[in-house]
Formats: sequence, C-alpha cells, structure tokens
Amino acid sequence: MLIQEIIRRKRDGKALETDEIAHFVDALTKGHASDAHAAAFSMAIVFRGLSRDECAALTRAMAQSGRTLQWHDIDGPIVDKHSTGGIGDSVSLILAPAVAACGGYVPMIAGRGLGHTGGTIDKLEAIPGYNTAPNADAFRRCVREVGCAIIGQTDDLAPADKRLYAVRDVTATVESIPLITASILSKKLAAGPRALVLDVKTGSGAFMANETGARELAQSLVDTACAAGLPTIAHLTDMNEPLAKAAGNAVEVEAAIDHLTGAHRDPRLHEVVLALGAEMLIAGGLAAHPEEARRKISEALDSGAAAERFAAMVHALGGAHDILERHDAHLPRAPHVRDVDPSMPGHVREVDARALGLAVVALGGGRRAPGAPIDAAVGLTDLAGIGEEVGPGRPLCRVHARSEADAEIASAAIQRAYAIGDKPAARRPPVIDRILAAPQ
Ligand code: URA
Repeated sequence: MLIQEIIRRKRDGKALETDEIAHFVDALTKGHASDAHAAAFSMAIVFRGLSRDECAALTRAMAQSGRTLQWHDIDGPIVDKHSTGGIGDSVSLILAPAVAACGGYVPMIAGRGLGHTGGTIDKLEAIPGYNTAPNADAFRRCVREVGCAIIGQTDDLAPADKRLYAVRDVTATVESIPLITASILSKKLAAGPRALVLDVKTGSGAFMANETGARELAQSLVDTACAAGLPTIAHLTDMNEPLAKAAGNAVEVEAAIDHLTGAHRDPRLHEVVLALGAEMLIAGGLAAHPEEARRKISEALDSGAAAERFAAMVHALGGAHDILERHDAHLPRAPHVRDVDPSMPGHVREVDARALGLAVVALGGGRRAPGAPIDAAVGLTDLAGIGEEVGPGRPLCRVHARSEADAEIASAAIQRAYAIGDKPAARRPPVIDRILAAPQ
C-alpha cells in the first residue's frame, strides 16, 4: 500500500478503509512515513474530514501504536476523565482522589499547559519530589494501592499521536475536530480505562472558545470513543471566566488542597467536580443514579477520605507525606505579591479568561516555547468572578510574581482582561450541558 495513495484518496474526499488508516499509522510509528506525508495526510483531513468510523479507526490505530495498559490485577472499575483545558481548573487534582475514595481506580495520564491553558502535570510538579514520570511498576502500584495516580504522557503511549501532533503543531493542522478527537482519545484508550468522562470547555479561556465548535468537538469525542469501544459521556462546561479563584501551578495545588480539606471550596469548581465525579461513579457501577453518585462524591470530600487519597498519591509518587498539613512549607512561593485594583469600581461584567491565562504564561507560569522550564510559584489568586463587585477593598486579584517588573506587566494585562459595569452581570452555570453518543 503506497502512503501517497492513501493521502490522495483522502484528498479526493474518499472514505478511507480501516486497513489504510492502520497502514498509515504503522508507517508513521515505524518512521516509514515522512513529516511531509504526515502534514499532507493531516491537511487532507482538515479539508475533507473523517467519518465516525474513520475517526474511530484512526483513534484505535494510534492507541495501539505503542504500549497499551491492562489492569487485570485490579478488582474494581477503571475510570478516567479528560478535560480540554482551561484556566483555574484544578478539577483533576480533586476528582481523581475523590473517585478513588469511592472505590474507583483512576490511572490518569495528564498533560502539560498548552498555549494559555494550565496543565495538570505542571501543577503537580510544583510539589517538591512528585514524580510525574514514574516507571510502569510505580504507576501501577500507586493506582492499585491508592486508587489513583496522575502522571504525564510517556513516550511509549500512543507514539503515533506524538509524531502526528508535532507535525500538526507546525503545519496549521491542529484545528481539525477529527484530528483533535483521535489525538485526545488515542492517549486515553492506551491507558486502558473501562469508561471515560470528558469535560469540554467553551468560552473565552477554552481551547474551543466558540460554543458551536465545543459542542461539535464534544459530540465527536463521545461518538468516536463509543465507536472505538470506550463508553464515554461529555459535559460542556463554562470557561468564560477562570473556574476557580487561583490560576498558576503551586497556587492551584494550594486551592485544590483547600478544596479537599474543606478549608475553602469554590462553588463553581465544586459543581464541576460533583458533576464529573457522579458520571464516573455511575459509569463505573459505583452508584445507581446521579443523586447517589453526587452524595458519595460529597461524602468523600467532606469526610476527608478524598484528601487522604490525594496525600497518599503524592507520597507514593515521591512527594512529602504531610502535604495536606504543611503545604505552606512545601509549595514554592513567589517573592512579589501585590493586589491588582480595577480600573474603576463596579461589577465584573466580562472576563477575558484567555488573557488571564496569557498573563500567567508571561509571569513564567506557562511556556513560551516547547519544553521550556516554568516557574511553579507564580500565578494569580483571589480572582474576581463575573458579577462580583470590585473596587476599594476588593481587588481584581492578587499577582504572585518573580519580580516587581513582572508584577507590573501582569497587573496591566489583568486590568485590560476585566470589563467592569454598573450592574451585576449574569453568570453562566459552570455545567452547561451533558452530551451523549448519538445513535448510530
Ligand atoms: N490536545 C491533544 O492532545 N491533541 C490535540 O490535537 C489537541 C489538544
């Protein structure tokens, strides 16, 4: 089978056969397909799209291009969650231990910050000693004994996606719903969950800002995952403002710990944790209906059982044993902390969440170039939400910066990101919709 013939057929709008897709992915994995082939294949898909079956075939082939994890030694439901990424979204840090405390097993392969969005792995690396790249035995042990482990992408998991993504990134072919779908799901499938819950964000801070696009992505993800044999549902959630009051790395770990211990719970973050957690329990057969599932997640949080799982995960993966009690001592702190006042007093009408994410990147909390180091200590806390009154005594947020000059630049960007008005603006609910697989 000639690689260029497969590309030509897609270029001409033909449906590819499963074995053609498998052949292309195999060639990509073994290095028989060049970057030029990968770019042309991706661009053909950008223009011609993929049917549900083709997308499922691409997903499966990429998932099987490397190691696939099996969990035969675990006697319990293996469930996972994926988010398309946002600002102030520390859901995974709370959700995985909460589900584990309810009897689920969560082997979560998470990502780093992408563009203006934060990444779970960067957040966890703010915890001194936490190893986001443990060997396979340590990962499995943590999942088996603690019930959850959050680690980074490994080279042997879906390597075809890694290769294709690197080419897409530099050939204007990232923005294709079938390619995004196959990319996200191949990594999830390779980690071996029995059910998946997706959090697809929409709004100014989302990867897919536009709601129509986000719905289309959610539907494509759910349909393709189900077609590939992984029962999946999605929630469409609001990212027109940061999900909680902190954005950054150490500051979000701190917010997650406060949530787990009950010291402070942001209601919007809490609602997303409950909604996604309930879906995971139902998908895993750990609850019969949404009310029971939400109650179990709440109890896991309120009893401290979820917090204990978080602490056990951190310790099992190399962090301190007393992260809950002594997070102040363990987490890095930025030397310059200052409040950002609004340009005028009033109520928050709109927030450009993307601009806030970029302000965190500019502070050093995200990357300007692939692989660059990040500053775990910097970020934003006490972020005002839509509808909140700001002015004397209530700043827009607090900036944590490496230098006064950085704090000054961030403050100006943050002021520009907030639109202030006379009257309180209506807030969207954090969970907008629930997306199920379309009938075949
Ligand atoms: N995240 C991924 O993993 N893949 C994409 O294509 C886009 C976002």
